[in-house]
Amino acid sequence: MAQLNGSKKIKTAVFISGTGSNLKSLIKFSKLKKSPISIDIILSNNSKSKGLIFCKIYKIKKKVFNFNKKLSTEKKILNELKKNKIKLICLAGFMKILSNQFIKNFNGKILNIHPSLLPKYKGLNTHERAIDNKEKYSGCTVHYVTAKLDSGKIIKQKIVKINKSDTPQLLKKKILAQEHKLYPEAILKIFSL
Ligand code: GRF
Repeated sequence: MAQLNGSKKIKTAVFISGTGSNLKSLIKFSKLKKSPISIDIILSNNSKSKGLIFCKIYKIKKKVFNFNKKLSTEKKILNELKKNKIKLICLAGFMKILSNQFIKNFNGKILNIHPSLLPKYKGLNTHERAIDNKEKYSGCTVHYVTAKLDSGKIIKQKIVKINKSDTPQLLKKKILAQEHKLYPEAILKIFSL
């Protein structure tokens, strides 16, 4: 894949709801010469998302949308994305489910990171469920977003060993550390194909 300079990079939006540690790792990655993406806008459904601090630190445009009226909000978001020439969306701890209509508008251009080895443990509380089921391994997955929750084509995964002494919090921490490597790797993979 050819090296991309700042202006040629694929304009990307990151959607968050919480801490934004994956957002931070994506921003750092986007600044590398080898990154095919630039991060041009950060969206959140929650004005209190801790991750919004990174908009300030890295001087990236931020937009907060109220998802109570989902369909009209999504229309506003689509306008905003169009205005900013966004070509890729990375969901990173975004806790709202996007409508089929929205997904169709960005068909094949929305990625998500999930803290389990999909197709196992779709949805919430993945670490608790993996430990309760006495799994030996868990991990994380980057996949395409489709209308069916956590079910789109898998791009890349990382496996994490579960130790007997692991609590859900400990496992979450171990998996998050791998997530921060996985998301950039998955992006490199799809754009170097
Ligand atoms: C991550 O575990 C991600 O896999 C899941 O939500 C969490 C977000 O963490 N979808 P952060 O906000 O990126 O720190």
